[in-house]
Amino acid sequence: MRSPSQSVIRTAVFPVAGRGTRFLPATKASPKEMLPVVDKPLIQYAVEEALSAGASRLVFITGASKRAIEDHFDSDQELEHMLEAQGKSDVLNQIRSVLPSYAACIFIRQPAPLGLGHAVLCAQPAVGSEPFFVHLADDLIRAEVGCLRQMAEVYEAKRASIVAVEVIPRRDTDKYGIVEVEADKSTTSRVRSIIEKPKPPSAPSTLAVVGRYVLTPAIFEHLERIGRGSGGEIQLTDGIASLMREEAAYAYRFTGKRYDCGSKLGYLQATVEYALGHPSLGRDFRKYLQGMIRSPSMRSRR
Ligand code: G1P
Repeated sequence: MRSPSQSVIRTAVFPVAGRGTRFLPATKASPKEMLPVVDKPLIQYAVEEALSAGASRLVFITGASKRAIEDHFDSDQELEHMLEAQGKSDVLNQIRSVLPSYAACIFIRQPAPLGLGHAVLCAQPAVGSEPFFVHLADDLIRAEVGCLRQMAEVYEAKRASIVAVEVIPRRDTDKYGIVEVEADKSTTSRVRSIIEKPKPPSAPSTLAVVGRYVLTPAIFEHLERIGRGSGGEIQLTDGIASLMREEAAYAYRFTGKRYDCGSKLGYLQATVEYALGHPSLGRDFRKYLQGMIRSPSMRSRR
């Protein structure tokens, strides 16, 4: 694996300003990115994926009620001393390894909820003139090689912006950015067009953008120019469409399974599958689920 200093893409941007209304009241005072999947919050999975892709500068675009994210990636001396005194070295090591010492966190407040494109624009002072990752923590991707790392490799070959895509049911096109590509069946293909949340009958394809992007810094001038789009917000999708008039962009069909943790069903699916794969919990949890499926009360509920 590359050491962070060798990486072409050093910066990852995490837009975390959304209020998580689909999870209220759980997200009233606590960020949706702090919802745990088994024993780690979504934002920690996100950061781990970015670090393993070589990023070392982590830029969080935050909003109201997001203090917990800052606290999560800060050291907690009091907690560490307590765990040390109690001899809980396993937990202590886990706590200390939340963030490696070479990584730097930058928190930028998005002044108003003006959309994903606006959130990414807020990251410009921290990103500068380098390519960067954008990671949406709602989209949890389980993969042997992290999705961003896969995309970093594609970036090395193409030196252009890349969006991660997967095929979705046509009825869902109005939940995603949808791309039309040059070579439909290829793993990596040049994007012909990209549109935010088209209605199913008018969608150019069923290839949806999921929450992983590699963007060239040229995106910023486009985000500054485009104005409000779908939902009255400044859309990243529109920024990419504008960028594509000057630069190529590629769609990459990642290897892995995505869970839409912005929806309750997707979040529950992730929780069950991550629990089944958990090193110390998996076996017992599988037994529990098997017993539950066999139980008469479960059958009568179907
Ligand atoms: C955002 C983007 C959309 C993308 C989606 C992936 O939408 O605007 O293009 O397909 O993330 O999760 P949101 O889910 O914030 O509505």
